[in-house]
Amino acid sequence: MLEFRNISFSFTGRRDTIEVLRELSFGCRENEIVAVIGPSGCGKSTLLSLATGLRKPTAGQVLIDGRPVDGADPRLGMLFQQSTLLPWRSVVENVELGLEIRGERKGPRRQRAIALMRQYGLAGFERKYPHALSGGMQKRAALLQTLAIEPKVLLLDEPFAALDAQTRVVIQNDVVKICRAGKRSMVIVTHDISEALSMADRVVVLSRRPATVKEIYDVPFSREAESVADAPAMPGFADYYKRIWNALDISIGGMNAAA
Ligand SMILES: Nc1ncnc2c1ncn2[C@@H]1O[C@H](COP(=O)(O)OP(=O)(O)OP(=O)(O)O)[C@@H](O)[C@H]1O
Ligand SMILES: [Mg+2]
Repeated sequence: MLEFRNISFSFTGRRDTIEVLRELSFGCRENEIVAVIGPSGCGKSTLLSLATGLRKPTAGQVLIDGRPVDGADPRLGMLFQQSTLLPWRSVVENVELGLEIRGERKGPRRQRAIALMRQYGLAGFERKYPHALSGGMQKRAALLQTLAIEPKVLLLDEPFAALDAQTRVVIQNDVVKICRAGKRSMVIVTHDISEALSMADRVVVLSRRPATVKEIYDVPFSREAESVADAPAMPGFADYYKRIWNALDISIGGMNAAA
């Protein structure tokens, strides 16, 4: 469905060039959830921005259904790392923004936004403004804005980082369910190994910048667990956690975790 094929990317400034991605390849099939994990600053957000057509790779191709991405693809929905709601629009107006941009008529798009808000715990907040919502509710509304356009491919850039631990698990679970129900493809960037293992079918570990694919793990927990909350208790979870931790090659207290 979505394929990064031999992608390299550099930012070229006036004085210097920063090589961010180097010959990086992996894909996300239909009805598959892929988690991308890697050190801070390695190029994860940059990678996703290549799929949205916002930036073009220096070399290589991003393909959707076998065709190169050319500008904004309507089958793709992206939730940016820094995404926020527009403060001057009510919550329901924020949720329907993508549909509005697509030119959907007000009646149907409003109905769809209200239905989504009811389904995902935001009933009663339609006419409120974003500042009246908790951080978790704002993130949920931003997610609904992305889901409202019913993308076949969903790209999420650290969507749950700001949430408290309980809300996070609830929303993670919702997102997995939504994804599976619609047979969508999803690429989720995260720092959280548990999140990657609990939500994804495959975990792609990136190296430090310039990022290359270091390891790819097929993991069963997301499909086999009753819910995201149950995944960490499944046999084998801790082993994968350790393997991924080692692959990330993070040092603690001067000691290399992989040593
Ligand atoms: N517009 C830009 N111009 C120049 N360099 C940039 C630009 N955006 C990002 N970079 C650099 O590219 C590298 C990768 O940035 P990116 O935001 O993709 O990292 P990341 O893996 O998403 O990090 P984090 O985990 O902290 O979100 C960083 O070194 C960053 O400083
Ligand atoms: Mg980022």
